[in-house]
Amino acid sequence: MKKILPLNHGLRGDIEIPGDKSISHRAIILSSLGNTPVEVSNFLAGADCLSTVACMRKLGAQIEQSGGNFLIKGYGLNGLCEPENILDAGNSGTTLRLLMGLLAPQKFLSTFTGDASLRRRPMARVIKPLSQMGATIFGRNDNKNLPITILPAEKKLRGITYEMPVASAQVKSALLLAGLYAEGATTVMEPAPSRDHTEKMLEAFGARIEKSGNAIKIFPTEKLVAPERISVPGDISSATYWLVLATILDDSDVIIVNVGVNDTRTGILDVLKNMGAKIEILNVRTSGGEQIADLKVVSSKLRGVEFGGEIIPRLIDEIPALAVAAAFAEGTTIIRDIRELRVKETDRLAAIVEEFNKISPETFTATDDSLIIRGGREKFFAECRTFADHRMAMSLAIFGAAAMGVSIDDADCVKISYANFFDMLA
Ligand code: S3P
Repeated sequence: MKKILPLNHGLRGDIEIPGDKSISHRAIILSSLGNTPVEVSNFLAGADCLSTVACMRKLGAQIEQSGGNFLIKGYGLNGLCEPENILDAGNSGTTLRLLMGLLAPQKFLSTFTGDASLRRRPMARVIKPLSQMGATIFGRNDNKNLPITILPAEKKLRGITYEMPVASAQVKSALLLAGLYAEGATTVMEPAPSRDHTEKMLEAFGARIEKSGNAIKIFPTEKLVAPERISVPGDISSATYWLVLATILDDSDVIIVNVGVNDTRTGILDVLKNMGAKIEILNVRTSGGEQIADLKVVSSKLRGVEFGGEIIPRLIDEIPALAVAAAFAEGTTIIRDIRELRVKETDRLAAIVEEFNKISPETFTATDDSLIIRGGREKFFAECRTFADHRMAMSLAIFGAAAMGVSIDDADCVKISYANFFDMLA
């Protein structure tokens, strides 16, 4: 149980946020596949990325922590070895799906498991295209849930052209990683652009990638050429809690420094600005192919908006926090095409309706794939459940802080992406 008291003042000052979760996973995986050492700074040492570190170590990667940095000694594209035991992806869909793509072409056996949440999440979406490439992968029941076993590849996988039914950076990344080892090129087509950190980092490692519209084509290679350093930008998904809180509280004036603003991730800025938020993007710079900026945000009155379609993958993880912003807006907000929220760490659509309505009754309703938020209703103190979902926990915390306080059952789950979130809030 953690109790968050109402904040009776705005946020002020500079805020530093932890490293980007998506980029941290990819930095560990790709650095392990080069032939030279890589130093990764501002790595997010949250539970999810540490699951990737643990799995990669079981596959023979040498990863050391030195102060705040991680040092990875690459053993080359063919330097992985058969794990002696089951690989545990914990709560992390990114660890599991990316590593399935990496291991499908390997000549050894591997078996994955994960926590109760991950064991419920759909994996057929990765198993199906990897099987088309020639991999043999078994999952539990018809949904192909964990535990999942990948049999040793008897021959090279074949490159395919795959049209993804849902936009998913994890599925896309799995296929691109498998494509590195395939016979012939692999093309992945997305219904809408999802985060492109894998493509960007693969290019930084010298892989040949071609993009045309929503199609990404990767050519197999014998070798990746690692950069000496990767500096991970701050995570815009973690910055979102402060963007929303500073906006809805009176008298806020903050700068969130060193935030990754890759345009496949900045849907949150577009929507908050459309709602009337005053956010300035300052000092834009580029590092390792990724754009970084400082975000200045001051209090503002918000209005309800309607959105869906192509923008959704660009803000998929920010919807619980955006729902909080919408509860403080004037008018109704409608968010469409978000069925994917039902298969995240928990069913976030159901969780938002059940728990957020305890703070602001009759505000949140959901259909199968959309969320309707009637802003401006009365707010109360409430006891809420997080369903062990880090983004539910942080969204409930800022909701309570901006309303009449909240108590949440499982605050510890923020360690997945933002271990010191509550210290920062305090
Ligand atoms: C991620 C992709 C997204 C996102 C997740 C991180 C990634 O998932 O929700 O938090 O790092 O590739 P999907 O690929 O399932 O959309």
